[in-house]
Amino acid sequence: MTLTDRPDDGDNGAVPGWYGVDPNKTDLKPNPHAHYKHLRQVQPVNLTPVGDWRLSNYVDIQKLFKHSHSGMRDMEGLIPGETREQTNASKFMLRMDPPDHGRLRSLVSKAFTPKSLNTLRPMVETVVAAELDSVSPRGTMDLVSDLALTVPAASMCAMLGVPFEDRHKLTDLVSLVTYRLAKQAYPHLQEQSEAAIIELAQYMLVLIEERRTTPTNDILGQLVMAEEAGDRLSNDELLQQSIGLLVAGLETTIGLIANGMVCFSRYPEEFEKLAADPTLALSAVEECLRFEPSVPITLRILWEDTEFGGVTIPANANVYALLIGANRDPLHFTEPDRFDIHRSEAKHCSFGGGIHFCLGSHLARMNAEIAFQQMARRFTAIEIDESSIQWAPSLFRIPGSIAARFQRRR
Ligand code: HEM
Repeated sequence: MTLTDRPDDGDNGAVPGWYGVDPNKTDLKPNPHAHYKHLRQVQPVNLTPVGDWRLSNYVDIQKLFKHSHSGMRDMEGLIPGETREQTNASKFMLRMDPPDHGRLRSLVSKAFTPKSLNTLRPMVETVVAAELDSVSPRGTMDLVSDLALTVPAASMCAMLGVPFEDRHKLTDLVSLVTYRLAKQAYPHLQEQSEAAIIELAQYMLVLIEERRTTPTNDILGQLVMAEEAGDRLSNDELLQQSIGLLVAGLETTIGLIANGMVCFSRYPEEFEKLAADPTLALSAVEECLRFEPSVPITLRILWEDTEFGGVTIPANANVYALLIGANRDPLHFTEPDRFDIHRSEAKHCSFGGGIHFCLGSHLARMNAEIAFQQMARRFTAIEIDESSIQWAPSLFRIPGSIAARFQRRR
């Protein structure tokens, strides 16, 4: 199907089709928004040719997250595409339903309190300052390797108690491990990816064992000691939560910072507003999350027939929430295609919602706040040739490299 196809009149308008958003045929990374806009206009409750459903409207996505009987596993307790054995071995909270999900999340969330995160702030500020000092005389930088990657790598190392000098090894391994989430898309990387998960697990296990004998204050140490009603995480659960956190937290935040800097180069007047008033950094982060999200979709499986926008989706259907589409829903956001760091009217969907709402949202915000503030304080006139951006082969929407020119602010 092409962008101009429209659905025929059929039951509830749900005539199966990709309507311009076929992930196997269209490269949705460089210019996704026209495609998602078209889909929302022609079939906001979309039945795909493979039988999955996709929602584009903000209101439908909020209903899916907060007011539907649904979960991460099907009505038999299986994760889509996995065998019973694989599903049973899967213990990361994002793949669990209640009551196991609540137990794992509450043990882990103790480590994500504002108090724990605030202890990281000075270290992240120092790392960003050092990195920007070193590129400053050059007038050019790679916004990914010189900024976007450095920030979450430093904070994740500190959180998990990974020695700082191992941060490049850690990010390389995590990047390879992430390909396991997209086996069909990257078959040639699966062997390397499987080797990476074994190496990463062995590495993390050493850190876990050290903390069982000598408690530490880092977040991995807190996780090892976390206890609720006499309940502790097993080694396997700890490994899956810590590796899951790395996968959930590293690339997504790289994407937030890199995509955000692309927005600032596209809208220099907004960058100047941030330079003039650094307290705008947090609302700027929210606008970057809305405007160019690094995680475009998330999934739920319905546990009963549920109506969305006049269309009834049957129980056991896979329903994808198109977060990237909902973030530009004109019924929810005034002038959704305008980038405005003062925008405070409504919340975006980029961290998902309901019981699985992103646990690392405050950490991601803090990292991006520091990165944007320091960039705006030092530099001006960020220039990027967007056609030269290299997109990383990732499930998420993450540039692998962005060559930028800048001037030092006087
Ligand atoms: C810009 C950065 C980030 C984005 C865009 C993002 C986005 C998301 C999304 C869309 C979900 C799924 C929510 C749902 O289906 O309702 C999620 C879940 C999650 N994220 Fe993030 N995330 C980011 C950073 C982080 C960081 C830094 C961490 C931690 C280090 C993290 C940890 C998690 C965890 C643990 C979950 C699962 C929560 C649960 O199942 O209860 N994320 N995130």
